[in-house]
Amino acid sequence: MMELKAYAKLNLFLDIVGRREDGYHLLKMIMQSVDLYDTVKIVPSEKLEVSCGEIDEKSNSAYKAAKLFFLKTGLKEQAKIIIEKHIPVEAGLGGGSADAAAALYGLNLLFDNPLSYEELLLMSIQIGADVPFSLTGGTCAAGGIGEKLLPVNNSLNAAYLIAKPKGGCSTPQIFKMYDKHPNNSIDGAYNRALYAVKTGDIKTFCENAFNALTPYACELLNDIHYILNKMKNTNGIKAAFMTGSGSACVGIFEDKKSALLAAEELKKLPQTDFAGVYFAVRCGLEII
Ligand code: C5P
Repeated sequence: MMELKAYAKLNLFLDIVGRREDGYHLLKMIMQSVDLYDTVKIVPSEKLEVSCGEIDEKSNSAYKAAKLFFLKTGLKEQAKIIIEKHIPVEAGLGGGSADAAAALYGLNLLFDNPLSYEELLLMSIQIGADVPFSLTGGTCAAGGIGEKLLPVNNSLNAAYLIAKPKGGCSTPQIFKMYDKHPNNSIDGAYNRALYAVKTGDIKTFCENAFNALTPYACELLNDIHYILNKMKNTNGIKAAFMTGSGSACVGIFEDKKSALLAAEELKKLPQTDFAGVYFAVRCGLEII
């Protein structure tokens, strides 16, 4: 038996710098794992099964990951994957990608490492653009569609308030909206934000944090705009922005108590589906 924690991710910066021929967008991101996690249990079984609450088995990215693992290794599909969800879905928090990365990593361990870590990393991009990061975890400067990862040190002493309105966002739809009316960060913002993360300069980081997808997600789901505004008006907040293609929003605090108070206030709103305070972790997966 194998049990893992699969951590959520935040995009501390997300800009779009181009488009591939297959339609995928080339991104410039700063990605961060946080201590909000699903648990993924893998046990030997007669056949491949994935259980994940309400989520349909075949469309689950952990199922796709397992299929790919067995195809690549030629091993018999004999494992049951049981996912306990805590990361909100359709939130831009990379929950599905984290579960897929945990399935790949956990199956490889359970079957005595038929694949190298490099092979797992190469395979992971076929499952989803955020899966390579979930395998790597920690803090990364990311490029390509999310597969080019450079681990960096996050020296920000920050508490991350995560709040999600009711309803999620369709990633393809939001990227399509971006294509019609592109919106990008100002020159140098990415380099300034990245340098600030490395040096722990929270003020400069907060001045440069950016997510190119925010206006489109807000257009689709006005409550994102509402939550961001509520966040920006709470005591002690240094910056508020969206993660991924939404719908979760992130508030940056230096003071944990203020962050916890803000989470309690947000939880009282009828628009809020999820709110909590989390911290940076140095990995994307952890064996329990
Ligand atoms: O790879 P993933 O399943 O996470 O992507 C979902 C969809 O989001 C893709 O089909 C694509 O429409 C869009 N996407 C994109 N560029 C990226 C990541 C995702 O256009 N870098």
